[in-house]
Amino acid sequence: MASHKIILGITGGIAAYKAAELTRLLVKDDFDVQVVMTESASQFITPLTFQALSGKEVLTSLWKSNTSNGMSHIELSRNYDLIVIAPASANFLAKLTHGFADDLLSSLCLARNCPIAVAPAMNVHMWTNQPTQRNVSQLQQDGVIFFGPDSGEQACGDIGLGRMLDTEELFRSIKNHFIPKLFKGKKILMTSGGTIEMIDDVRGITNISSGKMGAAIANTAESMGAKVTLITSNHKDYLKNINAIYVSDAQSMHDAVLKHISDQDIFISVAAVSDFKPKEKLNGKLKKDTASMNLQLEPTIDILKEVGLSKNKIFKVGFAAESENLIENAKKKLRTKNLDLIVANLIQESMGLEDTKVSIIDKNTVIDLPKSNKIETAKVILEEIARHMSMDK
Ligand SMILES: Cc1cc2nc3c(=O)[nH]c(=O)nc-3n(C[C@H](O)[C@H](O)[C@H](O)COP(=O)(O)O)c2cc1C
Repeated sequence: MASHKIILGITGGIAAYKAAELTRLLVKDDFDVQVVMTESASQFITPLTFQALSGKEVLTSLWKSNTSNGMSHIELSRNYDLIVIAPASANFLAKLTHGFADDLLSSLCLARNCPIAVAPAMNVHMWTNQPTQRNVSQLQQDGVIFFGPDSGEQACGDIGLGRMLDTEELFRSIKNHFIPKLFKGKKILMTSGGTIEMIDDVRGITNISSGKMGAAIANTAESMGAKVTLITSNHKDYLKNINAIYVSDAQSMHDAVLKHISDQDIFISVAAVSDFKPKEKLNGKLKKDTASMNLQLEPTIDILKEVGLSKNKIFKVGFAAESENLIENAKKKLRTKNLDLIVANLIQESMGLEDTKVSIIDKNTVIDLPKSNKIETAKVILEEIARHMSMDK
């Protein structure tokens, strides 16, 4: 069965072509998509394109009903979870504001009993002009969800606000709508990725951590309503609202964590912080013809332990990457670092890979998750954190 049912309303604007890719992404992600187009939209792109992509007849007319009682303009939204208008023309926003119902799309919007979201797409002057801005604020008051618009270069050559959100971002916003906001109002501080401890000016001690698990947790937590600050060594595709702070070694990660921790609700340490660093960093580049050398190492600062043993009332989550005795070692880390939860994974089953297999451990229980991709695993870990925090209340 499809995950969610969406009516995708397409109105008359240049960005209508982008709705084709949006339809493809939604269908690929198992959404049930019913496309409804205005007459103007069909001037920009044919209904046939959307029929092929959605696998369903595209509805365009109030007078050609596909229900036995001829009431598809009312029946339609009854079976759907969300109406998304993308692109939403200035004209359609005006019609929506004032309850016009002179075609199928505007009629079904007026008769809807499900939420509606609009992705405006228009010239910067159409967007900023007073009538449109009045309509936008009325629609917001009426509970209409706005995805965008974005700012940038426009089809007409103007630059400014009014562009439809990028298709990928729009797709993410739609998916996001269906994610329960378990962390609404909560602040999460996280670390992710490996660190590097420099030996000389070009070489360093690092590890094979990819930062994928951290990115999956950061993005999922943000989608679940959290305000996320991520201290990381990895430049990745983080969601726009994530405050990513880039660091390189254990000391700079430690300093950034301490700088941001005071007003946080949750700390999640996903980073693979180097345990050792050279006792002395050499200046310049060590010459290749150096016959041999001994590298003296010393332990780095233990960020997780310092946060764990602090008096801060924050909910503390650690990760344990082990090569053997996984559960035993993770339980020891949970205890000695005074954590609320620890996520244990075997290095050979997780580090640098797309998939992972983890166990979530608290003082009393061990939950073994099946092997899964890191985004799915991130969701379960965050649900467990939310469950524990609600139990702690
Ligand atoms: C070439 C062309 C491009 C247009 N692009 C847009 C646009 O990007 N956004 C918009 O709001 N209107 C745009 N319009 C105007 C709308 O198509 C027009 O207001 C139409 O009545 C909208 O109808 P609808 O809201 O029923 O789809 C454009 C018109 C033309 C001729």
